[in-house]
Amino acid sequence: MEGKEITATSQGSSISDQQLFEMAKDALVNSYAPFSKFKVGAALLGNNGKVYTGVNVENSSFGATICAERTACVKAVSEGCKEFTKIAIATEEGEAFPCGICRQFLYEFAPDIDVITGIDKDNLKKYKLREMLIEGFALKGDEK
Ligand code: THU
Repeated sequence: MEGKEITATSQGSSISDQQLFEMAKDALVNSYAPFSKFKVGAALLGNNGKVYTGVNVENSSFGATICAERTACVKAVSEGCKEFTKIAIATEEGEAFPCGICRQFLYEFAPDIDVITGIDKDNLKKYKLREMLIEGFALKGDEK
């Protein structure tokens, strides 16, 4: 499915942190987490105005599990969007921060992205990815 389009007329100039967080929450229903029972939803805002949601997708071979943040990012990139402004992450249990692999994965495309999480939409925390992953890895010459 294509990313949801948030048009200037329906949402103002951009989508708010609270709206993005609510979209991450709404995505939770599709989480596939039969092993950990820890459902995670993510909503990634592309600079094309579209929101790409993602959930964690676990696997019987545990190491094959994909986190919600990477699911959202892979959906966006595979639909042609490689630039992002912010990502919100939600769980059923409270705030959750991206794992190390997801930080590096997002850093590839958007090292300055805002990362938003919280216990609910009125209690959000926001960090720059660059603060969460100091000196993230980039091949020589590809630094952003
Ligand atoms: N998980 C995410 O989806 N995102 C994170 O940033 C951390 C962990 C998932 C992976 C696994 O399905 C479950 O949470 C428990 O680790």
